[in-house]
Amino acid sequence: MRMRKKKHSGERIEACARFLIKEPLSCFENLSAPFGVERPTLLEIGCGKGDFARQLSAKFTDHNIIAIERVPDVAMTALEKAAASENERPDNLRFIIGHAQYLSDWFAPNSFERIYVNFCDPWPKTGYHKRRLTAPTFLRVYRSLLVSGGELHFKTDNQPLFDWSLEQFEAEGLEIVFVTRDLHSSEKAAENLITEYEHHFSSMGMNIYSAHVRFPKKDGENE
Ligand SMILES: C[S@@+](CC[C@H](N)C(=O)[O-])C[C@H]1O[C@@H](n2cnc3c(N)ncnc32)[C@H](O)[C@@H]1O
Repeated sequence: MRMRKKKHSGERIEACARFLIKEPLSCFENLSAPFGVERPTLLEIGCGKGDFARQLSAKFTDHNIIAIERVPDVAMTALEKAAASENERPDNLRFIIGHAQYLSDWFAPNSFERIYVNFCDPWPKTGYHKRRLTAPTFLRVYRSLLVSGGELHFKTDNQPLFDWSLEQFEAEGLEIVFVTRDLHSSEKAAENLITEYEHHFSSMGMNIYSAHVRFPKKDGENE
């Protein structure tokens, strides 16, 4: 997501500090500390301006939600929107400004019930596929971070990325529990929470592709 550099971003992020996990490494020891209450936790990677994360927060009131965004100015918008809507939601949403490559440094195995990846960068050039958030190296990290039977929920507008991702899910031995090439006409349409990019693409008449993938643990793994 490209954005013009925003003014006073340091001060503006600091003004929303109560929604920010400044030291994500601390989550490894105590995932619930930023929330002050222990609850099952959901993770969104690449949250953009945070519309989806805020909807998750309102829908899953008995969960803690962590949303990660690597671009500070984009994360700042997510933080400011979260702050502006704090009276409409439970206090269960926190953000991390950082890159998903550090996930296994930040979080202990079995930390999350579900991971969401929505409209991730497609990295179309050959040689860059390993940067995709559905690449095998990421899927192996997700397997570790998810509880046994935990799920990845993936949405995209990009058919080649979707087809490639399904191949990776299969190659990693994951169970595809839901798949659609037209989410908004599927049986999951009513419960679907719409992201910023999803709103944009669907208003242009584009199909939204989605898969829910379950991660069984291998014997003895992270038990
Ligand atoms: C195409 S936007 C989609 C934003 C939002 N999920 C949506 O659906 O509207 C992808 C977002 O993911 C972020 N992102 C991409 N790769 C990331 C990574 N490895 N770690 C954290 N954030 C990432 C980008 O900065 C960008 O804001």
